[in-house]
Amino acid sequence: MTKQLPTHIGIIMDGNGRWASRKGLPRTTGHLQGVKALKNVISAASSLGIKYLTVFAFSTENWSRPNDEVNALFNMVVDFNKKGVKFLLENDVRVRFLGDIPALPENVVKSVEKVQATTDGCKGMTLCIAFNYSGRADILQAVNKAVENGKKVTAEEFESLLYTADIPAPDIILRTGGEKRISNFMLYQAAYSELIFSDKYWPDFNKKQLEKVIAEYEGRDRRFGGLNSEEKC
Ligand code: FPP
Repeated sequence: MTKQLPTHIGIIMDGNGRWASRKGLPRTTGHLQGVKALKNVISAASSLGIKYLTVFAFSTENWSRPNDEVNALFNMVVDFNKKGVKFLLENDVRVRFLGDIPALPENVVKSVEKVQATTDGCKGMTLCIAFNYSGRADILQAVNKAVENGKKVTAEEFESLLYTADIPAPDIILRTGGEKRISNFMLYQAAYSELIFSDKYWPDFNKKQLEKVIAEYEGRDRRFGGLNSEEKC
């Protein structure tokens, strides 16, 4: 048993579309409800003492969705970065975006830069928003930087080239919405993450659900390829 609060929780927030369809609502309403759930989970994680929370909000593959849905997601992030800043500062949350940010529309890039700068001094929790993110692309861009530097790298040096430089690997990767796959999220960083799956659609996820996930994690035996203390005796 870890009996230790996780330092870093990564979340694949899945199920917004199905949540909406079940209610006969447009998919974008599901995403809007997803932003509400995200705010609840940010407050909950920060009050529980979680130091890093990473949420998968837009993958490089999500560009293949209808333009209306893509634009709605971009607008939600811009809105969150602007109107949510008071909430972030009150909760002492520093925001970092992970992904190919320069490839996003200019207004999104500007709002990302602004919220990162405004919350930079916050020390309670770091919220990483994986946006225009791909785990494979992260590894590739780090490899290319290493090649440009022209010398072999150690694991530590390589990790400093990833989007997550200076952020510890996630202790938990949680996926909501019932599917059991990683979908290009944190591929390098997930080496020893505990995988937890919830059948709840993301808009229905809340503090109680998060506490259940943490309790499940605390009951896991993390060995990192070694033996647990009982087996060593
Ligand atoms: C997956 O559900 C969810 C997404 C692709 C987007 C998640 C985005 C948010 C919760 C809002 C992000 C906003 C901010 C401010 C970070 P899905 O649409 O694939 O659901 P489905 O599998 O039921 O269709």
